[in-house]
Amino acid sequence: MTKHTTDSLEQTEKIATDFVSTLSPNQDRAVVVGLYGNLGAGKTTLTQLIAKSLGVVDTVTSPTFVIEKIYELTNQRFAHLIHIDAYRIEKSSELLHLGWSEIISDPNNLILIEWPERVEDIMPAHIRLNLSHVSENSREIEIIL
Ligand SMILES: Nc1ncnc2c1ncn2[C@@H]1O[C@H](COP(=O)(O)OP(=O)(O)O)[C@@H](O)[C@H]1O
Ligand SMILES: [Mg+2]
Repeated sequence: MTKHTTDSLEQTEKIATDFVSTLSPNQDRAVVVGLYGNLGAGKTTLTQLIAKSLGVVDTVTSPTFVIEKIYELTNQRFAHLIHIDAYRIEKSSELLHLGWSEIISDPNNLILIEWPERVEDIMPAHIRLNLSHVSENSREIEIIL
Protein backbone atom coordinates (compact mmCIF):
# COMPACT_ATOMS: atom_id res chain seq x y z
CA MET A 1 0.00 0.00 0.00
CA THR A 2 1.31 3.44 -0.94
CA LYS A 3 -0.23 6.68 0.21
CA HIS A 4 0.28 9.96 -1.61
CA THR A 5 -0.85 13.45 -0.76
CA THR A 6 -1.17 15.99 -3.56
CA ASP A 7 -1.71 19.71 -3.21
CA SER A 8 -2.05 20.54 -6.91
CA LEU A 9 -3.00 19.11 -10.29
CA GLU A 10 0.71 19.11 -11.19
CA GLN A 11 1.45 16.81 -8.25
CA THR A 12 -1.51 14.62 -9.16
CA GLU A 13 -0.15 14.41 -12.71
CA LYS A 14 3.18 13.16 -11.36
CA ILE A 15 1.38 10.53 -9.26
CA ALA A 16 -0.59 9.47 -12.36
CA THR A 17 2.54 9.15 -14.49
CA ASP A 18 4.42 7.21 -11.82
CA PHE A 19 1.45 4.91 -11.34
CA VAL A 20 1.20 4.18 -15.08
CA SER A 21 4.89 3.32 -15.20
CA THR A 22 4.34 0.55 -12.62
CA LEU A 23 1.65 -1.16 -14.71
CA SER A 24 2.38 -4.05 -17.00
CA PRO A 25 -0.08 -6.21 -18.92
CA ASN A 26 -1.19 -9.60 -17.63
CA GLN A 27 -0.88 -12.75 -19.78
CA ASP A 28 -4.53 -13.63 -19.90
CA ARG A 29 -6.71 -10.77 -18.71
CA ALA A 30 -6.99 -6.99 -18.61
CA VAL A 31 -5.44 -4.84 -15.91
CA VAL A 32 -8.39 -3.42 -13.97
CA VAL A 33 -8.13 -0.42 -11.66
CA GLY A 34 -10.98 0.49 -9.31
CA LEU A 35 -11.24 4.18 -8.42
CA TYR A 36 -12.92 4.52 -5.02
CA GLY A 37 -13.92 7.82 -3.43
CA ASN A 38 -16.73 10.31 -2.98
CA LEU A 39 -17.94 12.83 -5.55
CA GLY A 40 -15.19 15.38 -6.07
CA ALA A 41 -12.46 13.14 -4.67
CA GLY A 42 -10.69 13.31 -8.04
CA LYS A 43 -11.47 10.02 -9.79
CA THR A 44 -12.19 11.55 -13.20
CA THR A 45 -9.29 13.99 -12.89
CA LEU A 46 -6.87 11.17 -12.11
CA THR A 47 -8.24 9.20 -15.07
CA GLN A 48 -7.68 12.23 -17.33
CA LEU A 49 -4.10 12.54 -16.12
CA ILE A 50 -3.46 8.80 -16.58
CA ALA A 51 -4.88 9.08 -20.11
CA LYS A 52 -2.63 12.06 -20.79
CA SER A 53 0.43 10.15 -19.64
CA LEU A 54 -0.56 7.36 -22.06
CA GLY A 55 -0.59 9.81 -24.94
CA VAL A 56 -4.36 10.29 -25.26
CA VAL A 57 -4.92 13.63 -26.93
CA ASP A 58 -8.69 13.85 -27.23
CA THR A 59 -10.20 15.23 -24.07
CA VAL A 60 -11.33 12.68 -21.56
CA THR A 61 -14.66 13.85 -20.27
CA SER A 62 -16.57 12.27 -17.45
CA PRO A 63 -18.33 9.26 -18.97
CA THR A 64 -21.20 9.66 -16.50
CA PHE A 65 -23.75 9.81 -19.30
CA VAL A 66 -22.15 7.26 -21.58
CA ILE A 67 -20.90 4.82 -18.90
CA GLU A 68 -18.00 3.60 -21.04
CA LYS A 69 -15.38 5.28 -23.21
CA ILE A 70 -12.65 3.50 -25.13
CA TYR A 71 -9.42 5.23 -26.15
CA GLU A 72 -6.97 3.74 -28.65
CA LEU A 73 -3.37 3.97 -27.43
CA THR A 74 -0.33 4.21 -29.67
CA ASN A 75 3.09 2.79 -28.77
CA GLN A 76 2.05 1.87 -25.24
CA ARG A 77 2.08 -1.39 -23.32
CA PHE A 78 -1.72 -1.51 -23.61
CA ALA A 79 -3.69 -1.08 -26.85
CA HIS A 80 -6.76 0.47 -25.22
CA LEU A 81 -7.61 2.55 -22.21
CA ILE A 82 -11.21 1.97 -21.17
CA HIS A 83 -12.84 4.43 -18.78
CA ILE A 84 -16.04 3.36 -17.08
CA ASP A 85 -18.17 5.35 -14.65
CA ALA A 86 -20.52 2.99 -12.85
CA TYR A 87 -22.21 5.77 -10.83
CA ARG A 88 -25.48 5.53 -12.74
CA ILE A 89 -25.50 1.78 -13.13
CA GLU A 90 -28.34 0.19 -11.22
CA LYS A 91 -27.66 -3.43 -11.97
CA SER A 92 -24.41 -5.15 -12.88
CA SER A 93 -26.18 -6.68 -15.87
CA GLU A 94 -26.04 -3.22 -17.52
CA LEU A 95 -22.26 -3.53 -17.60
CA LEU A 96 -22.45 -7.13 -18.78
CA HIS A 97 -24.52 -5.85 -21.72
CA LEU A 98 -21.64 -3.53 -22.62
CA GLY A 99 -19.38 -6.53 -23.13
CA TRP A 100 -17.76 -6.48 -19.68
CA SER A 101 -16.75 -10.17 -19.75
CA GLU A 102 -14.96 -9.68 -23.06
CA ILE A 103 -13.16 -6.47 -22.15
CA ILE A 104 -11.87 -7.81 -18.82
CA SER A 105 -10.49 -10.92 -20.49
CA ASP A 106 -8.45 -8.99 -23.07
CA PRO A 107 -4.81 -8.44 -21.93
CA ASN A 108 -4.56 -5.45 -24.31
CA ASN A 109 -6.90 -3.46 -22.11
CA LEU A 110 -6.22 -1.15 -19.21
CA ILE A 111 -9.58 -0.52 -17.53
CA LEU A 112 -10.23 2.32 -15.09
CA ILE A 113 -13.57 2.15 -13.35
CA GLU A 114 -15.14 4.83 -11.15
CA TRP A 115 -17.64 3.64 -8.51
CA PRO A 116 -16.61 -0.05 -8.73
CA GLU A 117 -18.65 -0.70 -5.59
CA ARG A 118 -21.77 -0.27 -7.74
CA VAL A 119 -20.83 -3.42 -9.67
CA GLU A 120 -18.96 -5.20 -6.90
CA ASP A 121 -20.40 -8.61 -7.79
CA ILE A 122 -18.79 -8.61 -11.24
CA MET A 123 -15.47 -6.91 -10.40
CA PRO A 124 -12.48 -9.16 -11.11
CA ALA A 125 -9.29 -8.93 -9.03
CA HIS A 126 -8.17 -5.31 -9.39
CA ILE A 127 -5.79 -2.61 -8.25
CA ARG A 128 -7.55 -0.37 -5.77
CA LEU A 129 -7.10 3.41 -5.71
CA ASN A 130 -8.74 5.08 -2.72
CA LEU A 131 -9.14 8.81 -3.28
CA SER A 132 -10.19 11.33 -0.71
CA HIS A 133 -10.80 15.04 -0.48
CA VAL A 134 -8.55 16.70 2.12
CA SER A 135 -9.13 20.39 1.36
CA GLU A 136 -9.90 22.50 -1.71
CA ASN A 137 -6.68 21.68 -3.54
CA SER A 138 -5.47 18.74 -1.55
CA ARG A 139 -6.28 15.08 -2.18
CA GLU A 140 -5.07 11.80 -0.76
CA ILE A 141 -4.47 8.86 -3.10
CA GLU A 142 -3.90 5.41 -1.68
CA ILE A 143 -2.70 2.70 -4.05
CA ILE A 144 -3.39 -0.90 -3.11
CA LEU A 145 -1.90 -3.32 -5.63
N1 LIG B 1 -4.69 18.02 -5.98
C1 LIG B 1 -5.73 17.74 -6.77
N2 LIG B 1 -5.76 16.62 -7.49
C2 LIG B 1 -6.82 16.32 -8.26
N3 LIG B 1 -7.92 17.08 -8.38
C3 LIG B 1 -7.96 18.23 -7.68
C4 LIG B 1 -6.87 18.61 -6.85
N4 LIG B 1 -7.19 19.77 -6.26
C5 LIG B 1 -8.40 20.11 -6.71
N5 LIG B 1 -8.88 19.21 -7.59
C6 LIG B 1 -10.18 19.32 -8.25
O1 LIG B 1 -11.09 18.42 -7.66
C7 LIG B 1 -12.11 18.11 -8.58
C8 LIG B 1 -12.28 16.60 -8.66
O2 LIG B 1 -13.36 16.34 -9.52
P1 LIG B 1 -13.50 14.94 -10.26
O3 LIG B 1 -12.19 14.46 -10.75
O4 LIG B 1 -14.60 15.11 -11.25
O5 LIG B 1 -13.98 14.00 -9.05
P2 LIG B 1 -14.78 12.63 -9.08
O6 LIG B 1 -14.64 12.03 -10.44
O7 LIG B 1 -14.11 11.81 -8.00
O8 LIG B 1 -16.18 12.97 -8.70
C9 LIG B 1 -11.69 18.70 -9.94
O9 LIG B 1 -12.41 19.90 -10.14
C10 LIG B 1 -10.22 18.99 -9.73
O10 LIG B 1 -9.75 20.07 -10.50
MG1 LIG C 1 -16.09 11.26 -11.76
